[in-house]
Amino acid sequence: MTLSSAPETTAPVQHELRGSVLVVTIDHAPVNALNAAVRRGLIDAIEAADANASVRAVLIVGAGRNFIAGADIREFGKPAVPPSLPEVCNRIERCDKPVIAAIHGAALGGGLEVALASHYRIAVAGAKLGLPEVQLGLLPGAGGTQRSARLIGAQAALSLILSGRHVDAQEAQRLGLVDRIGQSDDVFAEGLAYAHELIATQAAPRRTKNARGLADKEASAAAIAAARVETQKKSRGLLSPLKIVDCVEAALNLPFDEGLCFERERFIECRESPQRAGLVHAFFAERETQKAPETLDAQPRALDRIGVIGGGTMGAGIAVALLDAGLAVTMIERDDASLERGRAHVEKVYDALIAKGRMKQEAKTRAMQRFDGDTRYDALADVDLVIEAVFEDMAVKKAVFAELDRVCKPGAVLATNTSYLDIDEIAASISRPQDVLGLHFFSPANIMKLLEVVVPARVSADVVATGFELARKLKKVAVRAGVCDGFIGNRMLAVYRAAADHLMEDGASPYQIDRAVRDFGFPMGPYQVIDLAGGDIGWAARKRRAATRDPKARYVRIGDELCERGWFGQKTGRGFYRYENGARTGTPDADVESIIDAERERAGVTPREFSDEQIVRRYLAAMINEGANIVHEGIAQRPLDVDATLMHGFGFPRYRGGPMHYADTVGLDNILADIHAFAKEDPLFWRASPLLVDLVARGQNFASLNRSA
Ligand code: 3HC
Ligand code: NAI
Repeated sequence: MTLSSAPETTAPVQHELRGSVLVVTIDHAPVNALNAAVRRGLIDAIEAADANASVRAVLIVGAGRNFIAGADIREFGKPAVPPSLPEVCNRIERCDKPVIAAIHGAALGGGLEVALASHYRIAVAGAKLGLPEVQLGLLPGAGGTQRSARLIGAQAALSLILSGRHVDAQEAQRLGLVDRIGQSDDVFAEGLAYAHELIATQAAPRRTKNARGLADKEASAAAIAAARVETQKKSRGLLSPLKIVDCVEAALNLPFDEGLCFERERFIECRESPQRAGLVHAFFAERETQKAPETLDAQPRALDRIGVIGGGTMGAGIAVALLDAGLAVTMIERDDASLERGRAHVEKVYDALIAKGRMKQEAKTRAMQRFDGDTRYDALADVDLVIEAVFEDMAVKKAVFAELDRVCKPGAVLATNTSYLDIDEIAASISRPQDVLGLHFFSPANIMKLLEVVVPARVSADVVATGFELARKLKKVAVRAGVCDGFIGNRMLAVYRAAADHLMEDGASPYQIDRAVRDFGFPMGPYQVIDLAGGDIGWAARKRRAATRDPKARYVRIGDELCERGWFGQKTGRGFYRYENGARTGTPDADVESIIDAERERAGVTPREFSDEQIVRRYLAAMINEGANIVHEGIAQRPLDVDATLMHGFGFPRYRGGPMHYADTVGLDNILADIHAFAKEDPLFWRASPLLVDLVARGQNFASLNRSA
């Protein structure tokens, strides 16, 4: 049995005497986060236990699906309300009666800290324990670093806290985080039985602060030193990871109370940092994007058998994503040879995982049993959903959709993975436009988290809801987008890449631009990305658009010049960089710099110097301005949808919260002033978005639009 959740009006922490056990139930939907009322309630319960001679043990349990998900993230950034969580944990630890934490569901962050401050811990199947604060730009701030290190040792504690990963009940027991695992999943009965057993054996309170996990000083110091080296290498730009190492070191070197103070100071520094604000914004944005209006109004359709058309880069990646989620896939290709290539692409992904030891041969065999292929569309007669990933060509897409219209059962969802094409036009070309949807994956489709769910004008709500349901099954971050050239992500990419090209022609080298963008926190700069994806893709798109391009708009030809020489990037050994002997990391190329010089001359540009900061300002101003246009036109519902898109599809650093959140931190008036200044050189490119102008005039920020949505 799990205790059912009570209505919000009742106190979030209740305590009741069951025989000689004081049962303390945290009942604060949805996840029992530790807000001020819960913290107060916990202290009151422990006070009551100590004051009542009939109480011989205290049992802490959570109502609903979780023990405690952690501190209440919504309180960060607001004035602190006492009692603090460290006070709560210290009070629990000081309790004169044995305190037992009985854990089911999430015991995360502050939730695990409450459990660590308790004297005994039991977990049932399905429990997830962890200290994920690092993912929010924080560190455990209620004794978590001090108690976990003492309980399970420096190395295990550091691995848990620096990764933020969740461990299950078995692993928690192996690590020593819990004392036992319940026989059943009835957390209340298991906890109560454990409490009675402890009373029967006259077990005393057992305080974690006295645990001996750091007794081997030398080994602990070595583990801390190794973690420091590793963290310095890995956590580029992040504030909290090194502070976590410092805190565990303090656990080793300082008395417990001093260690707690040390940890609290570091925690507050992190809590007040923009990184924490960015990461918490990212956490909520990822959840908000899933709540498209259609998902609230309509039920998704069935999703068992899926068809994929095309076995190229995207079709194969999408097939792997579907197979990984346990779905059955039928791939359609043009002919037997292409189908064989498609199947080989899918197998190659799995073989690479096997070679790296990340997958077993049997798992691949099981996945491939759910995969079949055909060259005839009739094989799709029974599928629930089809994802088309053939060449980016309207005529080819329409021909494919005509076939789907002919063979698919009524109610099948017909999705296209097009990057740029008009999905309304595709929908209008068949007899069932209500079933046509855009599902825009990002390459590699089995890895990238973003899925743009593109909503054409005539689609049914339940088809949109099915797109979101598919994303949930694939564990992707789904973002609702409207139909336009490039939807949210690629439309923005086109604009900020153009800004980078302007900078390059005006005097910055592609290498400097890449470095400045990386230093801002992107994993790669724009020219490294072009070299990785293949310069020919953008070149083909530019040629396609040449006829419709505004002749007055600035056009930088440097990329075309490289492509004309066959320099498409990594796959040809040369692009903006040189890749000698198949190297994955490029080196700057003097020939490219000569081509750039020649193009500057041809365009009549006198090159000038840009600082890295100036580069980043232009790059981001272009991104933010187009993001504002996209929200203004309703292509994205809110600024946070733009943020989630850029973070999960385009490498925008999560700790900066996405471009729109970042713009708020810089100040929209400053962004607008930059755009006005840049417009003096190129008024056509730098046209301030009406939304940006309006928000600045009203003294508002992008966050205000997230709230009102
Ligand atoms: N505070 C406030 N709200 C929270 C929350 C938290 N810690 N954790 C989750 N929520 C909210 C979500 O925003 C969501 O709200 P919504 O319904 O309005 O959208 C709702 O709870 C349900 O969350 P999910 O949709 O994520 O539900 P799941 O069942 O998929 O996942 C979970 C549950 C595993 C608990 C997941 O929500 C989670 O990982 N939460 C964050 C856990 C965390 O990071 N804890 C550490 C906090 S920092 C801390 O404790 C500092 C301390 O050391 C001092
Ligand atoms: P690709 O060229 O690698 O693969 C296309 C595949 O479709 C080929 O295997 C081809 O044989 C097959 N095909 C062509 N016509 C067909 C038909 N009539 N019936 C069955 N199969 C047919 O192309 P890629 O890169 O996989 O792109 C596919 C689609 O995905 C395009 O619309 C593209 O814009 C989009 N896309 C591409 C991304 C990328 O990074 N490559 C990212 C997101 C979307």
